[in-house]
Amino acid sequence: MKIEFVASSGAAEILALLVNEGRALAGTGPALDQAASGALVKAMKNSRFNGAASSSLNVAAPAGIDANAVLLVGAGAADKLDDLAVETAAAAAYQATKLSGAEVLTIDVSHLSPELAARAGFAVRLAAYRFAKYLTKQKADKIPSVTTVRVVTSDVKAAEAAFQPLSAVADAVLFARDLVSEPANILYPAEFARRVKELEALGAKVEILGEAEMQKLGMGSLLGVGQGSVRESQLAVIQWNGGKEGEAPIAFVGKGVCFDTGGISLKPADGMEEMKWDMGGAAAVAGLMHALVGRKAKVNVVGVLGLVENMPDGNAQRPGDVVTSMSGQTIEVLNTDAEGRLVLADALWYCCERFQPSAVIDLATLTGAIIVALGQHHAGLFSNDDDLASHLMQAGLATQERLWRMPLGPDYDKLLESRNADMKNVGGRYGGAITAAQFLQRFVKDDMPWAHLDIAGTAMAVPSSDVNHSWGTGFGVRLLDRLVRDRYEK
Ligand code: BES
Ligand code: MN
Ligand code: ZN
Repeated sequence: MKIEFVASSGAAEILALLVNEGRALAGTGPALDQAASGALVKAMKNSRFNGAASSSLNVAAPAGIDANAVLLVGAGAADKLDDLAVETAAAAAYQATKLSGAEVLTIDVSHLSPELAARAGFAVRLAAYRFAKYLTKQKADKIPSVTTVRVVTSDVKAAEAAFQPLSAVADAVLFARDLVSEPANILYPAEFARRVKELEALGAKVEILGEAEMQKLGMGSLLGVGQGSVRESQLAVIQWNGGKEGEAPIAFVGKGVCFDTGGISLKPADGMEEMKWDMGGAAAVAGLMHALVGRKAKVNVVGVLGLVENMPDGNAQRPGDVVTSMSGQTIEVLNTDAEGRLVLADALWYCCERFQPSAVIDLATLTGAIIVALGQHHAGLFSNDDDLASHLMQAGLATQERLWRMPLGPDYDKLLESRNADMKNVGGRYGGAITAAQFLQRFVKDDMPWAHLDIAGTAMAVPSSDVNHSWGTGFGVRLLDRLVRDRYEK
């Protein structure tokens, strides 16, 4: 998708104009309506379109306007026209016209700030994403025709400048969505690591550890998960030091289970194909690093990805096995399908030991229980630090990647006690997302500010909004980019 910023619309194929609630034409709208002898207002009056967010009305070839069609796009209440409202309107304009046959969509936001114009371009980039690389027989009329979006702005230079970092974030979201969407025969741990290695071209430092190195480090918990797979487990370590020299980094850790069959505690066949997305946490962290490096963020950050495949096999770990984690703590593996926490246990410990970060945030498609609790519209937030938690909540509201805080506490922690080892890897039927978080907390020292995001419900979606029509959402990239921007780059 090509995004251009222009000073005037000129002759347009489709000209999109924002309309606020109450059928209020915004910006150049009233003048254009006059030029068209009231055709736009008349069209609105004869329809149900009233300017509500996400709705639109197509007005074909209005005489007096230099466009083949005018698309009136609802932008919601005029006094609430913030980043998110503009993003939704621009994305809705794209979704309404993408199959129209037009190649260029022009969106007139010249009455808004250049920053908001940049937001429009950003939203279109996200909205236009599709994962179509394996579709060899697409019908021509199902392939989007719109390949360029022109955003009309009062200040082209300023809009282009504001768009640059946003475009880096869009690149990163699309990178994460690609990773999530790839099937597991293509994207296995070594291939994931290879794609992450490409971040070096942008300026990151990337190290890949294999099984022999992890063995030396004593990562028995992570390695136990991958031992039934013919694909070698990997640990990817991505560093970006754009901040002050010697300042402790912020750390992000991602669950990268490239496929989760459940292992010997095998999952039912129905819907198992979705478990190719069980690396969504690692994809979000890789995407975040892509964003921060891409926009040269002024912070020190490190991303650690635990990449494994959970398979049943003659060599797979069994229920009842006891493994020793890098921390020295032993774990009785009662259910081989509770594997994400086993991967994160070693990845978190390694990350904190090696980098002594100022805070650590992990992301994981960790439990079905969080979907039962929160559905698909909030990710679960668990934290031992109220300040970190509230900054994360704020970033969630600002990016529409929303979080809901869940409890932690010793009563839940107790449920992990085992007779045969320091802990077991499952806490029973109730509060499954909470006991999973309690498990992780055992691998983070008490004085380390830590947050865990259970993104099992949000990493994939049936089209969840106009900016996201793809199955893989890339959830977490915009959220954490915003957290870094607002809390750490100040
Ligand atoms: N990757 C899954 C989480 C998951 C399962 C998300 C189904 C969405 C739908 C995770 O590895 C898992 O299997 N968790 C188990 C834990 C249980 C065995 C304690 C779960 O949630 O069922
Ligand atoms: Mn599992
Ligand atoms: Zn899993």
